[in-house]
Amino acid sequence: MKRIKIKDLLAHGEVGAKVTVKGWIRTFRSNRFIALNDGSTINNLQAVVDFENTDEDLLKRLTTSAAVAIDGEVVESQGKGQSIEIVVEKIEILGDADPDEYPLQPKRHSLEFLREKAHLRPRTQVMSAVYRVRNALAYGIHKFFNEKGFLYMHTPIITGSDAEGAGEMFRVTNFDPLNPPKTEDGEVDYKEDFFGKAVNLSVSGQLEAEVGAMSMGEVYTFGPTFRAENSNTSRHLAEFWMIEPEMAFYDLDDNMDLAEEMIKYLIDFAMEQCPDDLKFLDQRYAQEQKGKPQNERSDLGLLERLDFVSKNDFERLTYTEAIEVLKRSKPFKKGKFKYPVDWGIDLQSEHERYLVEKEYKKPVILTDYPKDIKSFYMKQNDDGKTVRAMDVLFPGIGEIIGGSQREESYDKLLTRMNEMGVPQEELWWYLELRKFGTAPHSGFGLGFERIVLFVTGMGNIRDVIPFPRAPKSAEF
Ligand code: 4AD
Ligand code: MG
Repeated sequence: MKRIKIKDLLAHGEVGAKVTVKGWIRTFRSNRFIALNDGSTINNLQAVVDFENTDEDLLKRLTTSAAVAIDGEVVESQGKGQSIEIVVEKIEILGDADPDEYPLQPKRHSLEFLREKAHLRPRTQVMSAVYRVRNALAYGIHKFFNEKGFLYMHTPIITGSDAEGAGEMFRVTNFDPLNPPKTEDGEVDYKEDFFGKAVNLSVSGQLEAEVGAMSMGEVYTFGPTFRAENSNTSRHLAEFWMIEPEMAFYDLDDNMDLAEEMIKYLIDFAMEQCPDDLKFLDQRYAQEQKGKPQNERSDLGLLERLDFVSKNDFERLTYTEAIEVLKRSKPFKKGKFKYPVDWGIDLQSEHERYLVEKEYKKPVILTDYPKDIKSFYMKQNDDGKTVRAMDVLFPGIGEIIGGSQREESYDKLLTRMNEMGVPQEELWWYLELRKFGTAPHSGFGLGFERIVLFVTGMGNIRDVIPFPRAPKSAEF
């Protein structure tokens, strides 16, 4: 018999049909009821065993997480919670899971504990739901950009340039770490290295995406990026995925419109593709909110919040206006912010979250940041102080998108690179884009795990990527 996936069986299974299903046992109750899951859906299939006519040794092996193949007949369900179930005719154990050794019990484990079992955690409801939503969002991104006629562009992972100029890069080398070739001055001689120069893992595909935009018009990248920033927070990873659209002939307003449209599309798409997973995550979120102090609780449930964000315009204001709002705010006046608020500072997460969660109660796009806290490539405003940057700020998360209109003037870009110590020898090709057929253009980067965090309502970024990479943590 051909195997049918549980998702399809629950959706279309007809009473009386003979089927084969395969999966992992979630629970086995009363020597009779198997809850079977194969990863295709959060919902389990109930398989009813005729224990009187089943070998006792076999019954003992029906333990949580054992892999089984079951032949059976579809019947109307007697119990509640599902409309159909199957009556087992034949059961084959494909792989045992010794209950004395298997580390996950059919009960609620802490997410911290599950992180240490990253190879088994997708067998839990919560993690499998998160991974399916993550998958839907990834698909949604490609769908969105394809429908808009954007070209998916692959940018390199090994690069010689520091796109963000923040110096937080992982070096890639095949030197013997104990004995690298040295120059006469005693420095490591990267000329002798594999690529004949020092290279790193990319922190962003933007600079290469600009090459794409300035020829193909509208492109996007979606790939892994790497940052050696030592921030052990619930929103940072050392390896994360980023979506970076880059568009010729877009100004900052066009850029903001695209970012807003994309996020709303992704939220709607996830709600349409993963209703059962999101319903489960909504309940989990509600449970978790109950455990929080009153002032930290979200006013809206997860699904309500997704719906709200998808249906309402984001607030747009300049950085300068935001500083004024923060200075008028209660927490500022009462000295409740940990970090100072002054024009020129980099906004801290507490400031971003105040704006989003307390002041506007919706996503906020801040624009026109001071040039000294932003990257060299951003278009300079006429005031000489600010650049055409935009950050999209989200409730519970803070920055979810960072982007800008790009500096298209060769001279201004070169001056800025020199001021900021960005080596022009390495970025000669980037500068040449401004020499030959330059044009206004813009783009942004969406942190993929941050949107997954928002849509799933999970609290820690390490729980929305299968194998998180963070300081002192690269198991699996
Ligand atoms: O603001 P960032 O650093 O912007 C750039 O890299 C630009 N080159 C993007 C562009 O204009 N094409 O990063 C963009 C987004 C952030 O808003 C955040 O969502 C995410 O990437 N991000 C991280 N996500 C997880 N872990 C980290 N360490 C992250 N750093 C940035
Ligand atoms: Mg940023």
